[in-house]
Amino acid sequence: MKTVTIAGQQVPQTAALAPMASVADTSYRLLCRKHGACMTTGELVSAKGLCYGSKGSAELCRITPEERPMGLQLFGSEPEFMEEAVRRILPFQPDFIDLNMGCPVPKVVNQGAGSALMKTPELAETLMKAVVRAADGACPVTVKMRIGWDEQHINAVDFAKRMEAAGAAAITVHARTRTQFYSGRADWNQIAAVKQAVQVPVIGNGDITCGADAVRMYAETGCDLVMVGRASYGNPWIFEEIACALAGEPFAAPAIPARLQEMLLHIRMILERSEKSEQLAMREARKHALWYLRGYPGAAAFRARSATLNSYAEAEALVQDYLHHAGRREAP
Ligand SMILES: Cc1cc2nc3c(=O)[nH]c(=O)nc-3n(C[C@H](O)[C@H](O)[C@H](O)COP(=O)(O)O)c2cc1C
Repeated sequence: MKTVTIAGQQVPQTAALAPMASVADTSYRLLCRKHGACMTTGELVSAKGLCYGSKGSAELCRITPEERPMGLQLFGSEPEFMEEAVRRILPFQPDFIDLNMGCPVPKVVNQGAGSALMKTPELAETLMKAVVRAADGACPVTVKMRIGWDEQHINAVDFAKRMEAAGAAAITVHARTRTQFYSGRADWNQIAAVKQAVQVPVIGNGDITCGADAVRMYAETGCDLVMVGRASYGNPWIFEEIACALAGEPFAAPAIPARLQEMLLHIRMILERSEKSEQLAMREARKHALWYLRGYPGAAAFRARSATLNSYAEAEALVQDYLHHAGRREAP
């Protein structure tokens, strides 16, 4: 299998897991790594939150060995806070620090952070320089950007060049504008244009839903690595599928019972890691259960049940009932 070096980490040239706040937490990242994600990035962390000693922000920086190579992602818009946040994040020993210049949510954008930085490339450059300086060679700094603020202001190439000049060791391009949020098509031509324009590795992101999409993104953009977000919902096997597609090998999708066992494992991992009561932690697990149950024949009623799960025992019962129901459907 081919390998590629991204921000000092030599990894199989398959697919990385995208950072996803409130979704790709420790349990999720561990499962995706187990199924072949070649690297991971943590959920975005507020630089200010870290500087003010927020417990929640610090918790987002915890890394377990099996998640590595793993980057920690910072967002902010003030160089002093970013520098101090780097000093606070380094003890967690991230394999790289990623700067978020793509988040579209108003809470982040209204602070001039996330994708708002696509509108202020000089400030983005200042932030990158400040973070690289503060990291002081202890770990590489990368950036995750969009292709522009809106369709009238596509500035991916100029922006990426600035990031490279300011010291970015790799550049992830989520090929949408801010105003697209997560809808509309990702414009992979912009990933190709960035790849042509910079020397550092380029990671392509947006709209990979299957192995064939990953093969096509590599071929059409020349990117060094691809990154997958939403297609991994309830489907950590997407990384195995991509590895098979790249190797030209057939991929045998796991059967429903195996998928549901993995769902139960995922729920156990969430419960084991949570400091909340089982009932509260199950609220976080529900969306994952729903995702694992997507697309199964006759599963609509079971999906509805996943939205009310209050305990692990209820999740186990749901799986038993579904398998019983599916078995009956298949019986002659
Ligand atoms: C629920 C959710 C949370 C996200 N959180 C982050 C984040 O914390 N940092 C970040 O850089 N991007 C975040 N993203 C964007 C993804 O990393 C990725 O760029 C986007 O989903 C496009 O890739 P996809 O089409 O493979 O899903 C998030 C996306 C989703 C759907």
